[in-house]
Amino acid sequence: MYFKNSKGFPSDFLWGSASAAYQVEGAWNEDGKGISNWDQFVRIPGKTFKGTTGDVAVDHYHRYKEDIALMAEMGLKAYRFSIAWTRIYPQGHGPVNEAGIRFYDDLINECLKYGIEPMVTIYHWDMPQALEEEYHGWEDPRIIDDYVNYAKTLFAHYGDRVHYWITMNEQNVFTSMGWLLGMHPPGKTMDYKTFYQVNHHANMAHAKTVLAYKEAGYQGMIGASFAYGPSYALDCHPENAMAKADHDDLQAYWWMDVYAYGRYPRSAMAYLKANQIAPEMQPGDEKILKAAASQLDFMGVNYYQTAVVAYNPIDGVGLSTEMNNTGKKGTSKDTGMPGLYKNVKNPYLQTTDWDWTIDPMGLRMCCRTITSRYDLPIVISENGLGAFDRLENGQVHDDYRIDYISKHLQELKKACDDGCRVIAYCTWSFTDLLSWLNGYQKRYGFVYIDRDEEEGGTMDRYKKDSFYWYKHVIETNGEEL
Ligand code: BG6
Repeated sequence: MYFKNSKGFPSDFLWGSASAAYQVEGAWNEDGKGISNWDQFVRIPGKTFKGTTGDVAVDHYHRYKEDIALMAEMGLKAYRFSIAWTRIYPQGHGPVNEAGIRFYDDLINECLKYGIEPMVTIYHWDMPQALEEEYHGWEDPRIIDDYVNYAKTLFAHYGDRVHYWITMNEQNVFTSMGWLLGMHPPGKTMDYKTFYQVNHHANMAHAKTVLAYKEAGYQGMIGASFAYGPSYALDCHPENAMAKADHDDLQAYWWMDVYAYGRYPRSAMAYLKANQIAPEMQPGDEKILKAAASQLDFMGVNYYQTAVVAYNPIDGVGLSTEMNNTGKKGTSKDTGMPGLYKNVKNPYLQTTDWDWTIDPMGLRMCCRTITSRYDLPIVISENGLGAFDRLENGQVHDDYRIDYISKHLQELKKACDDGCRVIAYCTWSFTDLLSWLNGYQKRYGFVYIDRDEEEGGTMDRYKKDSFYWYKHVIETNGEEL
């Protein structure tokens, strides 16, 4: 749509930035913290780039005051971070670890001291290993009650000060990587039946948590963050258009419809049933999903790239269990679902060194689709560029990052003109951090951290050029991009 004049961003827009516990905190076994599935998984040879771990990460656990002071200097309005379940319940359930409760109390209070709105992700992939050992974590329905109990503990302690809650980070990613591609814990491949069952458990955990939050009457908003990559059909060949429809039902609406409508897309469910991979549901589950959906406050979106979809014959390409985690452009593999769709390259767009398509307009497309389909407020909970950065004389000239974020914000502003109710935008990430499978060399932050794949960096923080640029964006409420 074309608007002669832009309304700009809302005056109370939350200019934010995001992180996740495992990727920044370190202190993996300090102050009573339990072991998580990731603490365990990264120790399996060959799973991560150069065997990197989050044992120390970027030491946010000890340096959070310094990091939040930098956020304040920048003028950040919101800091999205996740809580490590293992700091609160080292065994997943049972006795609470008071030191863990205190750590997040301090972190939240430190944000509030500077007027920064804490936005809390309840689950960003690090599950207590004890639950994996007790009943295989997400594979067992017992996880639902344990998750809800953990979430309620967070609400009880922090619900008076935290007004934005995200139940799940990228459920589509952690379940696909964990049960189809073998790249995240528990490292299973092509186990479709379990994959859909695990997702149903996560959906129930999400839904019961939303209901618990609402029933207790907290004053705040709650939603889930979905890794949404809108798709384009390769061309107007009807087979490619149908491939896009299949792709969207199975790769996007399968999750977002549950969050927003409380039901699975009918065609996707028909396909799963015909292939005997549909999840088993208990009587009453549907009612709970629907009740939670009717109270969902926003759709969280982590946006990085779009996809191009083409028809994939039954003997065509399958899922790839390898990815480009080195930053050598062009090393990612083709991937698809035989008989349905495959992803092909977009000839109109550039990619990052890790082969992620750069498509600013895709962000506007996310907002438009969510608005048309669900009519919900939107939190952009992640968006950013992973790149090799060079520190020279204490400076990092990351004009490529400024260009990336600027173009995405220009499109987001248009989405606001389009009538989409966007309430927040969080870049990924504030400081550099551990990129799960790609080590420390894939940097996303406004703040450079002196560490690389080997432990032993100084951990000193340096403001990149993008730091000053985003500060100005916030000061002008996005008028000067
Ligand atoms: C999202 C995750 O998938 O993208 C983050 O929520 C992650 O945790 C980010 O770090 C970027 O991905 P990557 O693989 O480049 O670190």
